[in-house]
Formats: sequence, structure tokens, C-alpha cells
Amino acid sequence: MAYRKLEDHGWIEARPQSGYYVKRRAWREPPEPQITAPPARTTPVNMGDMVVKILRDGMRGDVVPLGAAVSGTELLPVKQLSRLAGMIARRSPVAASSYDPSPGHEPLRVQVARRAMEAGCALSPDDIVTTTGSQEAMGLCLRAVAKAGDTIAIESPTYYGLLQQIEVLGMRALEIPMHPRDGVSLEALELALDREAVKACLFVTNFNNPLGCSMPEENKQRLVKMLDRRGIPLIEDDIYGDLPHDGPRPGTCKMYDETGNVMLCSSFSKTLAPGYRVGWCAPGRWREQVTRLKLYTTLATATLPQMAVAEFLANGGYEHHLRKVRRMYAEQVSRAREAVCKYFPPGTKATSPKGGFVLWVELPGGVDSLELHERALKERISIAPGPIFSATMRYRNFVRLNCGYTWSDRIEGAMKRLGEMVGEMGA
Ligand SMILES: Cc1ncc(COP(=O)(O)O)c(C=O)c1O
Repeated sequence: MAYRKLEDHGWIEARPQSGYYVKRRAWREPPEPQITAPPARTTPVNMGDMVVKILRDGMRGDVVPLGAAVSGTELLPVKQLSRLAGMIARRSPVAASSYDPSPGHEPLRVQVARRAMEAGCALSPDDIVTTTGSQEAMGLCLRAVAKAGDTIAIESPTYYGLLQQIEVLGMRALEIPMHPRDGVSLEALELALDREAVKACLFVTNFNNPLGCSMPEENKQRLVKMLDRRGIPLIEDDIYGDLPHDGPRPGTCKMYDETGNVMLCSSFSKTLAPGYRVGWCAPGRWREQVTRLKLYTTLATATLPQMAVAEFLANGGYEHHLRKVRRMYAEQVSRAREAVCKYFPPGTKATSPKGGFVLWVELPGGVDSLELHERALKERISIAPGPIFSATMRYRNFVRLNCGYTWSDRIEGAMKRLGEMVGEMGA
């Protein structure tokens, strides 16, 4: 416990299979942002054209990629997956090009269940439905438990893709305060649930996007109990759970679910290849509904990518690959935090993610991140401005920085330039 506190405050660091060491650092840790304070009322979601434009800008090939939360392809096993896909297509041309209707490709479900079991979460292949990414998984889960006009409790800030799902389904959002290290404030959530008729909670429990924070295991257990007692389902997005920077994989709320009230969603977009669009969910007691919704809407997830991912999980060295990328993401997030300290004006704050590859930065002096986004784009640097992470367009003086690419002079230069712009705008 004492070690954990010292580690949290940046005085010591854990080295794998070695122990704790006093941290040597040539730069001072940035202070962390405060717990968030969104409005305590439900709101319709209307992300509008501006967000679509910002997202497109973030995906442009000619910008320094600090916007969209994606990894550099050099970190992903792209060649290996292509080789596997080619081999499978030659070996089983009929299977690879036929429908594999919902609940989806069985060998993939076997592998997902095996990995979940190894991580302490008792799932069987029959509990799992494969999907086109985690995004579809969450949409299906939302539709299984709520309808237009219903309120969904979300983290504030949260991943904009979740806001878009809520928007297209005509649902309403209730933003819940977030602690920069521990995630959802359970005290604030309890108060909100007493006040509002919430139909479901939709939380990213590990290394979330955009804060990079995780719920402590004890909070996960409390959350599961709280929602179970109230009969409110939890849709849990664990897309970054395989990417701790150090130490073991964190648990999921699903691990503590005894009644089928937790609907766990994830995908291989952040670990293997976003373009394969291979995701899954374990929808607990809504399994039948989710399987049918998937069947009625898209019938099946693309077969060949599912086969390739299943093969990679079975024989491709997924654990070995994870060890490599975890180290890389740890390094890249650390370099980005260091660059914030070096180049951004005093008063800048940043989160301290222990996994994943995004960093949330609070700009000093009321600097407007939408304006910073426009300015940066003119110099071919993309960032994700704070308001796209909120149903109420809050966080105007925050940005999310993607740390998914191998650190380079180009990225260092872009961080320096961003820091200068923030300085100019705040002056
Ligand atoms: C928290 C979170 N959930 C879901 C997604 C989308 O995942 P997928 O590509 O599996 O649909 C992302 C992508 O950035 C994300 O950050």
C-alpha cells in the first residue's frame, strides 16, 4: 500500500521481476487535473458536424498524429496478420468467404474465453458474441437494454464514439464526475442514480480514453454491487485492458458479476489491427437479445479477419507481442508527459496513465483547445480538443494527445510547437 502511494506520487517505480526503485527523473511531474464537475442533469447528445470534421482531420495522412487514438502500424503485427489471412484464405477458401452468423466464429470465441479465463474472468465461448469492433458491441448492448429517450450514465470526459452511439439511438446522457486516477466517482454516481432514472451505465473501466485512468479493483466490485442492487446494467468497455504499462493485467467488472448484469465489450483494435474490425461482447443475461440484434442488423462479422485473429491468438505469440507494445506505450506516454513539462507553459496539467496510449492535458490560462486545434492543423499537427469528449461540450481548455506512435524528432518537434502555440494563446 505504501509502495503504491509512493508510486502514484512518482517517487518510486516498479521494475518487472526486480522490485521498487527510487525514480530518477530530469523533469518534474506535471500536476494532475482535478476531479471533473459536469452538470448534474441529463442531456440529449448532439455532437454535430464540427466533431465529424475534427475526427476526419485527425485521420489525415499528412499530419503529425497526436489526434486520433491509433497506434503506429510499426507497432502492430500487420505482416504476420496478413500472412495468416493469406494462408487461411488459401487453406479454407469456402469457410473464409462464407457467412459465420451471430454469435460468430467459434474458434475466435474459444480464444477470447480462454484469455478471459486466464485473466480471472469466467467466460465460456457460448457467452460471447463477435462484433464489428467494440463500437458495434456497445451499440448492440445499448439497444438491448434501453430505447430512445432513456438516459445512459457516462464518464465525463468520455470517448466520443460512445457519445455518438447514444446520439444515433436517440438516448440521453448523464455525465458522471471522473477522478483523474481512479475513474468514475462512485459517490457522485450514487447521488446521480438516486436523482435520475438511469437505464444503463456505459463505462471504460481500464486505462480509459481520454484520461488514461483505471478504476481500482475495490471500486469495480462496489460498482457491480451498486448497480446490481438497483437493477441497472453496466456496459463495460475494456478495449485498453490488455495494455498495462507494467505489472499484471487489471481485472474487469465482469469478473465480479454474479447475476449477468455486466455486459463486457472489447476488441483487437488497440492491440492488433483496427482495420480488421474484430470485436466481441459478453452480454450477460442479454445474450439472446444481443445475438438476435446482431443477426437482424449485420447478420455476421466478416469471417476472414475473425479467422486470422483467432489463429493469431492461438499460435501467433499474442502475449509476446503485448509485452513489446506495453513497453513501447509506457515509453511513449512518458516521453509525451516529459515534453508537456518541457515545452508547455507553467500551469499546464496532465494525467498519469498507467496503461493505454492517450494523455489528457489541461491547458493554462483559459486557452481554447478548439482554436488550438485549428491553429495546429494549419501546421499539420492534429490534436483532439476537449469538447468532443463531452455531451455538453465541456473541457474547452483540455486536449487529448495520442501517444500511439513511436517517439521521433517529428513528434518531439510537434510537441514543442504546440507548447509554443499554447504560450502565445495564453499570453
Ligand atoms: C474507449 C474506446 N472504445 C471503443 C473504441 C472503438 O473501438 P473499435 O475499433 O473496436 O470499434 C475506441 C477507439 O478509439 C476507444 O478508445
